[in-house]
Amino acid sequence: MNVRCNKNILIVDDDSMARKLAEFVLTKDGYNVMSVDSGEACIECLKKDSNIDLVLLDIEMPELNGIETLERIRSEKTIADTRVIFLTANDFSKFEEDSKRLGVLDFISKPLFGPEILERIKKVFAKEQVCDKETVLVIDDDRMNLKFAEHMLSSVYHVVTAQSYREALDYLSKELPSMVLLDVHMPDMDGFELLTEIRKIKSCEDLPVIFLTADSDRETEVRVFREGGLDYIQKPFVPEVVLERIKRILSLRKLQVSLESEVERRTAELEESKRKHEILSLQVVKTLASAIDAKDRYTNGHSSRVAKYSKEIALRAGKPIEYQNEIYFVALLHDIGKIGVPDNILNKNSKLTDEEYETIKQHPSIGVEILRNITEMPNIEIGAHYHHERFDGKGYPEGLNGYDIPEIARIIAVADSYDAMSSRRSYRAALPQEAVRKEIVNGRGHQFDPGFADIMLKMIDEDVRYELRDDGLNM
Ligand SMILES: [Fe+2]
Repeated sequence: MNVRCNKNILIVDDDSMARKLAEFVLTKDGYNVMSVDSGEACIECLKKDSNIDLVLLDIEMPELNGIETLERIRSEKTIADTRVIFLTANDFSKFEEDSKRLGVLDFISKPLFGPEILERIKKVFAKEQVCDKETVLVIDDDRMNLKFAEHMLSSVYHVVTAQSYREALDYLSKELPSMVLLDVHMPDMDGFELLTEIRKIKSCEDLPVIFLTADSDRETEVRVFREGGLDYIQKPFVPEVVLERIKRILSLRKLQVSLESEVERRTAELEESKRKHEILSLQVVKTLASAIDAKDRYTNGHSSRVAKYSKEIALRAGKPIEYQNEIYFVALLHDIGKIGVPDNILNKNSKLTDEEYETIKQHPSIGVEILRNITEMPNIEIGAHYHHERFDGKGYPEGLNGYDIPEIARIIAVADSYDAMSSRRSYRAALPQEAVRKEIVNGRGHQFDPGFADIMLKMIDEDVRYELRDDGLNM
């Protein structure tokens, strides 16, 4: 049987056993294999040998690791286009971001063993179309038909022939042609049964197949399409018809593949840009929160802590991750209205006058005004607006009652009070944990939503060292 083309693979791994195993598996499958034990040696090898088709690069290596090695490869003009698959014995997901950035084609878990690895390598080569000519596999039990097909197609395509279902399946388990011409009538296993077996090979799930048949009845014609054939060619062959049909199907296929990869590329670009926007928004909001906290010298970090506690309460209340992330944002800005309160009132050491207290009570309304311009996140002002509302209706600025207060604000209200009591203020030291707990118990159903107060109490009870404020929650 013809082998489609010889591909050169470079294995880069500091582990000699892993290298040997990979060499054994890949050489056995017909690849030309070289191996080196470090990132430096890999770069050197690539510079010397321009015929390396694929590098299997271990991520975890001493000195230059896989990611650093690939960054160097991408920065060197002559070898920047090298195809790379990452190897790792660990969880892939933590390397996903770097891999996207560096154009890694796939991940393979170590040790390199089993058919799945060969499938992935095969797919990479098929996708990248390493060979100039496209390969057509012709399966027919009649040797004369095979000879004729080979003669007819070989000026345009690289032709591989198989005379039995065993030969065909053996070839397809190792290689991925561009198309299959499949005889309907064969001994042992007919063309339709063989196609079912071919589809079981993962990389051949979408492989285009044209049936070859001497039958001209309608039943065969219908069955060809029903069983997943893209077309059929009547025997005896008319060379021009065969070539045109193959050409048409392959160009459609190419269009489909390039559309798919374009969609993949665009989706990845959009996801990356969305991720960057999210990071930017979070950074801007955190910076704003720090600006708010900087105004009040005794409550440094208050906004971040309230955001942290609010997110934890939401998590424990069974809210989805999107809700948890939203409340984190909203809570970071709950006190933004304090920007409009004079510093001498915010930082006053002695008791506030009634007038000063009224000025402080303006901060929820000022917050709403400031946040009104952020139209892309309509809920952003909810925390600022309602975090001083009370469950019993005695809060401000609107005096809302019970469940009329937006849920996000009911959560932030508990988190805000907990932080106010457990932190040092301009007029007093931090309260002991037992006193804080008592205040939350007393406020349950009065100042606070009882359900969220209960969650806060559980968090307090679990915090045996009273360190929630410092590093109890890592976010
Ligand atoms: Fe406040």
